[in-house]
Amino acid sequence: MDTPNNETKKTVLSFVQASGTPTLGNYLGAFKNWHDMAAENDCIFGVADLHAITVRSEPKDLRRRSVEMYAMLLALGLDPEKNIVFLQSHVAEHSQLAWVLNCYTQFGEASRMTQFKDKSQRHADNVNVGLFTYPILMAADILLYGADQVPVGDDQKQHLELARDVAERFNGLYGEVFRIPQPYIGKKGAKILSLQEPEKKMSKSDPNQKAFISLTDPTDVMVKKIKSAVTDSEAVVRYSPDKPGVSNLMTIYSCCTGKDFAAIEAEFAGRGYGDFKAAVAEAVAEELRPLRDEYEHILADKAYIEKCAAEGAQKAAYLARKTLRKVMKKVGFYQI
Ligand code: TYM
Repeated sequence: MDTPNNETKKTVLSFVQASGTPTLGNYLGAFKNWHDMAAENDCIFGVADLHAITVRSEPKDLRRRSVEMYAMLLALGLDPEKNIVFLQSHVAEHSQLAWVLNCYTQFGEASRMTQFKDKSQRHADNVNVGLFTYPILMAADILLYGADQVPVGDDQKQHLELARDVAERFNGLYGEVFRIPQPYIGKKGAKILSLQEPEKKMSKSDPNQKAFISLTDPTDVMVKKIKSAVTDSEAVVRYSPDKPGVSNLMTIYSCCTGKDFAAIEAEFAGRGYGDFKAAVAEAVAEELRPLRDEYEHILADKAYIEKCAAEGAQKAAYLARKTLRKVMKKVGFYQI
């Protein structure tokens, strides 16, 4: 199968939707791993702007958010010379393969996707078919490039399983066309929770601004949000399922400082939540400051962004075309 990798290197691929400013959840659950994996692998990272239109937004907002998200990927240090960093809508093969895969996915298995059920409840006025076939487009994103590993947060695990099932079904019919991807889910940070309702995940589309930390929040805003995070009345820093708010803040602190939960409990033994939240806020601000500075710097240089996006699309399209051609032939489309 044609992929950009040789025998030793793995192909790592992941995308982020252009549906809002990325959050601390995106960063700790996905971006941090992308950055770490980029050093040793062939990597393909994309802005999923096609996925973003499953929820209605103003065209100018989608355009702005797509450019901002692309700048954020560059700011993470994902070298566009070494890796492929591009926008999904610039490579038409994603939509083309998605159509083919639609025809190899059962209605029943797509209906089981919990994210579809959640999103169709939240956007009850616009339960479009794209929302339903969303994971199949995601499967196309992955399978076009022969990805070995897909670093994602916990919420994408079920979509990854669907991509694997569809790929296996297709291979079963036509031979080894697709490489079967593995999810890569970090041990820590795979599910960062809302600061206000710690029973649900932190999301960039949450209408309550206090529920999430955006990667572009100024430090004082970030600090305020962490200080007003929901905890409990026990005032003891302890990791436990019955303390979701505190446990979430401990996870965030642990991801930013590298300290384990036992060390964190010892550090804050006998101290109240005030001290703890101040330390979490400080650690998050420290972690994100260099990223935000780099992001501002890159975002100001539109010519550089355009050049990188054009080159990324060209490299991606070259690989995508090869896979799609093979798929079309296997399925039986008349070749000219
Ligand atoms: P998206 O844009 O919702 O999120 C991007 C990445 O961030 C992770 N993530 C989180 N991790 C931990 N805690 C959280 N609160 C949190 N919120 C988000 C997500 O798991 C994801 O890894 N469908 C995908 C985008 C996509 C994709 C793909 C991913 C499109 N094509 C192909 C992988 C491969 C999505 O909406 O992610």
